[in-house]
Amino acid sequence: MIARFRIELLSGEHNRSAFSCGVLALDRYLKEQASQDVRRRAASCYVAIDNSSDSLAGYYTLSAACTPLNELPAQLTKGLPRYPSVPVALLGRLAVDATFQGCGLGATLLADATLRALRSEVAVAALVVTAKDEQAEAFYRYHNFLNFGSLPHRLILPIAGYKPVLSN
Ligand SMILES: CC(C)(COP(=O)(O)OP(=O)(O)OC[C@H]1O[C@@H](n2cnc3c(N)ncnc32)[C@H](O)[C@@H]1OP(=O)(O)O)[C@@H](O)C(=O)NCCC(=O)NCCS
Repeated sequence: MIARFRIELLSGEHNRSAFSCGVLALDRYLKEQASQDVRRRAASCYVAIDNSSDSLAGYYTLSAACTPLNELPAQLTKGLPRYPSVPVALLGRLAVDATFQGCGLGATLLADATLRALRSEVAVAALVVTAKDEQAEAFYRYHNFLNFGSLPHRLILPIAGYKPVLSN
């Protein structure tokens, strides 16, 4: 089967001008800030390109971060060493253009981010995200993330033994 999307590192070749996911801050970030963050090594940014139209259909960012061990639910700390903080990959942003929403691309990008974190030469134990609202939080919970910590909408997905279930 020929894949509908290809996922690659953001570069100057990608046309971001038409990207619109329904959340202005996420559109703006891609158009105005993402390249700078990549250049300064504050984040990696991966984009999904629709193979038939070459449109930029979605993106996500990943950065290294750490989270206090004592904020994690007991079920997650069992297999972890007793260091005060846990190395994690931060999924800073994730967005799918409105034209492509609902066809599995969000799940594909999430799986891609998780696999990259898992394969990273810098060890990380989990993927962490701060969802922007309840609806986004529901998306992550649907994909097995668990709420943790005292801040609202903060979720974590342990990645040891992760196996992706891709819908496209
Ligand atoms: C949230 C977002 C990334 C989801 O991407 P998408 O491509 O529309 O979602 P998908 O088609 O990949 O959905 C995959 C699965 O998640 C489910 N899902 C999608 N959104 C969901 C939600 N808000 N709550 C619960 N489940 C959800 C789908 O029903 C689907 O289930 P299935 O595999 O059983 O059919 C996308 O809607 C988006 O970019 N929204 C605006 C920006 C945003 O909110 N980003 C979140 C960052 S905090």
